[in-house]
Order: sequence, then structure tokens, then C-alpha cells
Amino acid sequence: MIHRTQVGIVGAGPAGLLLGHLLHLNGIDSVIVEDRSREHVIDRVRAGVLEQGTVDLMTAMGVGRGVQHSGLRHEGLYISFLGQRHRINLAELTGGKAITVYGQNEVVRDLIEARAETGRPLLFEAEHVSVGGFDSSSPEIRFRHGGVDHALQCDFIAGCDGFHGICRPSIPSGSLTVHERQYPFAWLGILAEAAPSSDELVYTYHERGFALFSMRSPSMTRLYFQVPPDESIETWSDDAIWSEMLERMTTRDGWRPTVGRIIQKAVTPMRSFVATPMRHGRLFLAGDSAHIVPPTGAKGLNLAASDVLVLARALKEYFTDGRTEWLDRYPEVCARRVWKAQRFSWWMTSTLHRFPDENAFDYHRQIADLDYLTGSRAAMTSLAEQYVGLPAEVSFESAGL
Ligand code: FAD
Ligand code: DHB
Repeated sequence: MIHRTQVGIVGAGPAGLLLGHLLHLNGIDSVIVEDRSREHVIDRVRAGVLEQGTVDLMTAMGVGRGVQHSGLRHEGLYISFLGQRHRINLAELTGGKAITVYGQNEVVRDLIEARAETGRPLLFEAEHVSVGGFDSSSPEIRFRHGGVDHALQCDFIAGCDGFHGICRPSIPSGSLTVHERQYPFAWLGILAEAAPSSDELVYTYHERGFALFSMRSPSMTRLYFQVPPDESIETWSDDAIWSEMLERMTTRDGWRPTVGRIIQKAVTPMRSFVATPMRHGRLFLAGDSAHIVPPTGAKGLNLAASDVLVLARALKEYFTDGRTEWLDRYPEVCARRVWKAQRFSWWMTSTLHRFPDENAFDYHRQIADLDYLTGSRAAMTSLAEQYVGLPAEVSFESAGL
């Protein structure tokens, strides 16, 4: 079956769903094609920290009810080392900005509901998805859905299909440059039925390795710690996980996470990755399909949101009056923000983790870095303005909001 749309979107993660809704608000047609089931997409436990700008964007788009109602606004965070927690006052250092803890599951669920209300197509469980014809005026997405083969002819394709998707690999080799760094560790993350024992996140540097205290709700704690890169989750019993969490996180004043039943656990690899340019002909990459940051800076989902804001502006200008200036500028405008987020995430990661090949010099340098960070208003301001999110280059108004 042959169909036509203005923008074909591959992937119903945060990037694809936010883009679909931004286009809808501008009266632009789209079809979202997703290869997993609706339940799988909603249930995946992933990010939790939304920058101020991401919350503002969702609110301006009319999809902010959930985040306003159930999101946990944090005006500060803690950096913990040598057994002591040090608070960084994000709001005071950034003129009142904050981050909001709201699970990616909820973001995605809210956006899927909003999509359903628009009546525009969102196809789950599409099989054999492929893309091509980027250099023609009508690139195509091909897939099988409900036992029928489909060809979707588009004016543009948005590759929002994450790191393991098919859009980036469909660009001819030689047209993309890949910049990559692997880290010699991974994160073991758990979700536990336990009331958070701190109102704010705690990033811990410990001689046994990094640990992070976060949460999802007033009754749900989310915790992570650094493990070797190829660690199998099977080797960690729940008791062993709690024992390691408590060892790394307990501070000299007796603060520690509350222990509870573990309801989800997984190991996540860490990498920094950027593919440039984020455009090939009429294919535009957005979100994790173009870049991955290590999770320490909590930037991945937020970068997906800022990419699609720029893309929405570019597509709006094209479909309103045929202007291509912002389509042409898309790769360069996105790359500037992506590289700043890459630098910040790499720095947070390097400062807070233990590296297998480090020596005593490196250890003392890291402690000095943390001591400086938590003792200098200038250093705290630098962390705060990046953590809550640097200003966007594109205004909401210019993207039709
Ligand atoms: P994805 O969410 O990966 O969505 C891509 C979609 O495309 C998926 O639904 C996928 O099923 C679909 N797809 C893939 N292949 C195909 C295909 N062939 N055809 C059709 N559809 C396809 N970020 C933060 O900002 N803050 C955090 O605190 C944070 N913590 C994290 C913690 C963990 C444990 C992990 C794993 C990630 C974390 N991130 C965080 C990163 C964040 O989750 C990602 O950056 C975000 O999901 C990117 O959104 P996306 O839409 O680009 O990609
Ligand atoms: C969470 C994840 C992160 O990567 C981070 O830096 C902070 C919080 C979380 O899942 O809550």
C-alpha cells in the first residue's frame, strides 16, 4: 500500500513523539512508525531528569499536565565525597531555574496520549522498517504492518530511532563522521519500593566507585553504581546490591538510602558518541540516533528535546513559506549544543568515577576537583547552569508555539 505524508518519523521515543506533536501544532502532517509495542515503549525504565527548558517546552506544547502535577521539582543537588554531602543550590545560582524528576516512561505515556487525541497516525509493531531516497524529492519509509507491506512517501524523514535504529546506518558510509569514546565501566541501576531518604539527587564519588541516588516518586527510589563494563546483572543478588549501595552512599552524618524491595535492575553501558552531520539530503537525525552521552550529566532525553525544537522550527518555515535556511542550519545549530552537552557529560563522568588505570596522582586530582567544585561559587555556577540546561538557540515562538 502506498501512502503520503509531509514528515515521516521513525521511532516513538521522546524525540519522535515530541517532533510529531510540534508538527501537529503547526498543522504539519506526520506518520510515526515504531517497531516495538506500545507497552514496551512505555515500560522501558530510562531517564528521569528533565531540564528546566524541557519542562517549559512540554508546558508550552500543552503536554505538561503530568509533569506539572506529578513531576518533582528540585532546586538543588548534592555532590558527596570523603563521606560528606555538599549541596549545590541550582535555583539560586541560575536565577531561579531547576530540574524536574519525571520518568521518561511518564513523558512517553503523556506524549502517546496526546498523539492519540490528535488522531494522527502512530504505528506500533512495524516490521522490516527501512528508509531510502534521501537525495530525491520524495524519500520513503518502507515497512510491514498488520500483515501488509507499506511504502510511505514523505517530503522529509526524521530519524528518531535511537542509537540502535536503522536511519543512521542507512546514510552512505563516507558521508558521516563518527566521534566516539568508550568508558571502562557501566552503571548498575535499580528501582526500589522505598521512600526517597533525600529530597534531592546525590552524586557520590567513593573509593569503591561512583554511586547515584535518585527517585521516581515519593515512594520509589532509583539508584545506580559503577560496575565493570561487562558486568552481568545475574552476578548481583539483591542483598549484594544493597550492601554495595549502602557502603558507597552512607555519609559520616549517617545519611543513607532507605532499603526496599527491588522491582527492576539492569546494567547500562556508557559511551560518548556523535555522528555528524545530523542531516543527509532529506533525512534528519535527532536524539540518540545521532548522539549518545554517558548518563552522568542527565542530558540524553533533554538533547533529544532540543534537537526536535530546532527541527520543528526548520520544517515550519519550509512548509509555511518554502524557506530552507533553517533546514540548512539544522546540523550546525544542533551540533553546538550537542558538543557542549558532550563536554559536560564527559566532565561529570571523569570527575565522579574511578578509572581502572588511575594512580594516586589521579585520585588526589579528582578529590581536589570535587573540593574546588563544592567550595567555589564560580565552579558551582558553572555546574548549575549546565545541569539545568544551557539556553536554547531557538525560541518557542519561532517553532510555532
Ligand atoms: P529512544 O528513546 O531510544 O527512542 C527511539 C525509538 O525508536 C524507540 O522507541 C525504538 O524502539 C524505536 N526504533 C528503534 N529502531 C527502530 C526501527 N528500526 N524502526 C522503528 N522504530 C525503531 N537522559 C536524560 O536526559 N536524563 C537522564 O536522567 C537519563 N538517564 C538515563 C538512564 C538510563 C539507564 C538510560 C539507558 C538512558 C538515560 N538517559 C537519560 C538517556 C535517554 O533515555 C535517551 O537519551 C532518550 O531516550 C533519547 O530519546 P530518543 O527518542 O532519541 O531515542
Ligand atoms: C537519573 C539518571 C541519570 O543519568 C542522572 O544523571 C540523574 C538521575 C535518574 O534516572 O533518575
